[in-house]
Amino acid sequence: MEKILECLSIEKYLSIIDNMYRLGWDERNGGNVSMLLLKEEVEAYVPKAVIREIPLPIVADPLLRGKTLAITRTGGYFRNTKAHPEHNIGIIEISPDGTKALLHWGFEDDGCFTSEVYAHLLCHAARLKVNPNNRIVMHTHPTNLLALTHLVKLDEKELTLALWRTMTESIVVFPEGVGLLPWMLCGTNEIGQATAEKMADHRVVVWSLHGVYGSGDTIDEAFGLIETVEKAAEIMIKELGHEIINDIDDEGLKAIAAHFKLTPHPGYLK
Ligand code: 13P
Ligand code: ZN
Repeated sequence: MEKILECLSIEKYLSIIDNMYRLGWDERNGGNVSMLLLKEEVEAYVPKAVIREIPLPIVADPLLRGKTLAITRTGGYFRNTKAHPEHNIGIIEISPDGTKALLHWGFEDDGCFTSEVYAHLLCHAARLKVNPNNRIVMHTHPTNLLALTHLVKLDEKELTLALWRTMTESIVVFPEGVGLLPWMLCGTNEIGQATAEKMADHRVVVWSLHGVYGSGDTIDEAFGLIETVEKAAEIMIKELGHEIINDIDDEGLKAIAAHFKLTPHPGYLK
């Protein structure tokens, strides 16, 4: 087996991508995931030679220069990624001047990183500024959350409160709430900038009528965050058209936050 595939975090990255496909979140080439590798992982597992240089569409933040990431291929199918990682993912190093991706492994047959590379680079930089341990940026199309953005008012506070009220774990897992963007054209610098702005104080940002971005220190954490928002959205969808008799009120939400020593998004609870 190739050395890079023996790296435990790459193994985990591939199995989570496979799992996302199985959940129905990542049809065809839908979704993209990037993961910063630790220095010791780069030294132990990443081939030293640069196979190819790929220009980046924006200049990467100084925080990312010299860093190495695993990132999914544009047009790559999630359902094939675990079986054919050399085709569907690339291991890239950001050049010292931030203008190029130096390809060390993968993207066979002339592949390139995701079209959402703007959002990935900008969100990594935004998260690293507030949390130097952040390693993951994950974009996916979870079915219920996406459906919900067709059905509710696109208001960040209202959506957060509604998701928190569905189940006790919501406020525990995302006390800062969810960021929410209106529909915007994907694969652009503009949506990347808007997502990264929200990522300064949210780990999860919903793209209306498209999907979601999540982040985290580990791939389990980023996946778990999106999974929890998606579960709450699924409950909301199941409630539609029914009279809601019970849900968690502000007192309950405050009690949960106090019990778990969490600070809910300021100004959301009365
Ligand atoms: P890529 O195939 O370029 O990663 O695009 C998929 C996607 O989800 C766009 O938002
Ligand atoms: Zn998408």
